[in-house]
Amino acid sequence: MRTDYCGNITEKYLNEEVVLSGWVQKRRSLGNLIFIDLRDREGIVQIVFSAEFGEDALEIANTLRSEFVIQVKGKVVNRSDNAINEEMKTGKIEVEATEVKILNQSKTPPFEIKDDVDASEETKLKYRYLDLRRPEMAKGIKVRSEIKRATNNYLYDNGFVDIETPNLTKSTPEGARDYLVPSRVYPGSFYALPQSPQLFKQMLMTSGFDRYFQLAHCFRDEDLRGDRQPEFTQIDIETSFMTADEIQEITEGLIAKVMKDVKGIDVKLPFPKLTWDESMARYGSDKPDVRFEMELQDLSDLFATSEFKVFSGAIADGGEVKAIVVKNAADKYSRKDIEKQQDYIKRFGAKGLAWLKVADGELTGPVAKFVTDQADDLKEQLVLNDNDLVLFVASSKKIVADSLGYLRTYFAKDLQLYNENEYAFTWVVNWPLFEYDEGIERWIAAHHPFTMPNIEDIHYLDEDSHKAYAQSYDIVLNGYELGGGSIRIHDRGIQEKMLKALDFTAEDAQEQFGFLLDSLEYGTPPLGGLALGLDRFAMLLTNRDNIRDVIAFPKNSNATEPMTQAPTVVSNEQLDELGLEKENK
Ligand code: AMO
Ligand code: AMP
Repeated sequence: MRTDYCGNITEKYLNEEVVLSGWVQKRRSLGNLIFIDLRDREGIVQIVFSAEFGEDALEIANTLRSEFVIQVKGKVVNRSDNAINEEMKTGKIEVEATEVKILNQSKTPPFEIKDDVDASEETKLKYRYLDLRRPEMAKGIKVRSEIKRATNNYLYDNGFVDIETPNLTKSTPEGARDYLVPSRVYPGSFYALPQSPQLFKQMLMTSGFDRYFQLAHCFRDEDLRGDRQPEFTQIDIETSFMTADEIQEITEGLIAKVMKDVKGIDVKLPFPKLTWDESMARYGSDKPDVRFEMELQDLSDLFATSEFKVFSGAIADGGEVKAIVVKNAADKYSRKDIEKQQDYIKRFGAKGLAWLKVADGELTGPVAKFVTDQADDLKEQLVLNDNDLVLFVASSKKIVADSLGYLRTYFAKDLQLYNENEYAFTWVVNWPLFEYDEGIERWIAAHHPFTMPNIEDIHYLDEDSHKAYAQSYDIVLNGYELGGGSIRIHDRGIQEKMLKALDFTAEDAQEQFGFLLDSLEYGTPPLGGLALGLDRFAMLLTNRDNIRDVIAFPKNSNATEPMTQAPTVVSNEQLDELGLEKENK
């Protein structure tokens, strides 16, 4: 059917006859001469029709419209000098058509098939099969496939065994709501779609597989964001007999292989490691973007006895005062701009945003008069220069971190303080074992309930459990959590204590996790692993900011899929069969 893809027809085919199949991108008619841009997944090539090379072909070319599917036979020739397009891979040549066949016609598509198209997200998702014809969309899908290929190669080469685990299963707690599937055979009983294969991969270690991987589909009913979909894919890994450092090292090898194969980039190994405490203190985030500095500076000592009650009061209440310095940018932000940011950070609980500008070596702005006693120390400690903007937040540790962590990335993005094409990986290690969930007012597992505490902290599980730190780690790329994992508990006693610390009664623990607890009594080896988000990896390697762009058929922000319109209502017969009642019955 074809010699090669349109996008691959370069001078190497000069004077050869080729057969090409693809879609009509554009038709320009000069009467007795017609130009067609023919497109397939690899790119575009210019076809010329003229009575000189093919009379019938010219006649058919007259009837071609955008997105018609055609097959063309012709000769590859040099373009005339003034028609050469250096920007295009195929820009030096064109194909003189001797024959053309229309394989299918097309209605005028609802939007033009080109990058930077002006159509609503909803329309693009409804006609996703057309959207995916656009070169930038096709590229995202191909990059995703390349990541999978590099991953498979690397993991096979390193002795990992690819094992599938069930999708109709029992709930695994990863912190989201489950998608449930009703059982027809047992009315009233449900399977849960896996939030991750966590417990199965642990079982596989007990079985002795030693190194497991899977490109695993995971399902989580949680609020959608740019980097979250209800259905996504993990590069899921589990190992036996390895330390956290060794697991991180093998993951670095995997990431280096992907970066090399997919982007041609040699990343520098090993990646830097930050402890969670350090990451929160310096960047106000557990997923810091380390492509730029603007670190949080602790000024609590300086302001502990200040007469400015906004500052000293927060410290007296057990909180802190921290600041970031936006270098040489004071003239770029008006009082109104800063007040807009002050309003934004109220969502984190901040009561205000104090700020200063430096001009002629002096501190200026509304708060300057409150810090005159500390002005010299401030200039020295923050290394202030003219035109610097200083932003302070005084509050609890968490509110300070959330607010300044947000402002740090806001100003860096606004001022373009980093290179979009740089990839900065960093590990965040040694997380707290638990975190406080304000919504349900309870301590929950920061990673998941199977994470091994640091050995010296195991005693905290009996009381003060929230003081314990864990053998867990996240891999962070440019401010995104790319992946996370941990060493797991392989001792029944510790696992029981962990579940108890999470308020499970012994009966509940046995009912939900009995199979896991039992397995731990049959020789579970020391084990650990991690999972990388494939969608996020593909999004970041294609410089997109929504994982939707690298998923062929994603859900929209209302968790529906506009092309098939899932989820849909089902028939009463189906409901009856499943023993389910109709809504509101
Ligand atoms: P975790 O819940 O941190 O760990 O998930 C691992 C990685 O999966 C990706 N991810 C998502 N991607 C898209 N949409 C989502 N809704 C979504 N949720 C998570 C992220 C994240 O870093 N079982 C553990 C791993 C382990 O301990 O081995 C787990 O699932 O990139
Ligand atoms: P006030 O004395 O309340 O008018 O506040 C003086 C300045 O401090 C204003 O610019 C407020 O935005 C700012 N401010 C108030 N509360 C805080 C806080 N918790 N952290 C930082 N700045 C604050």
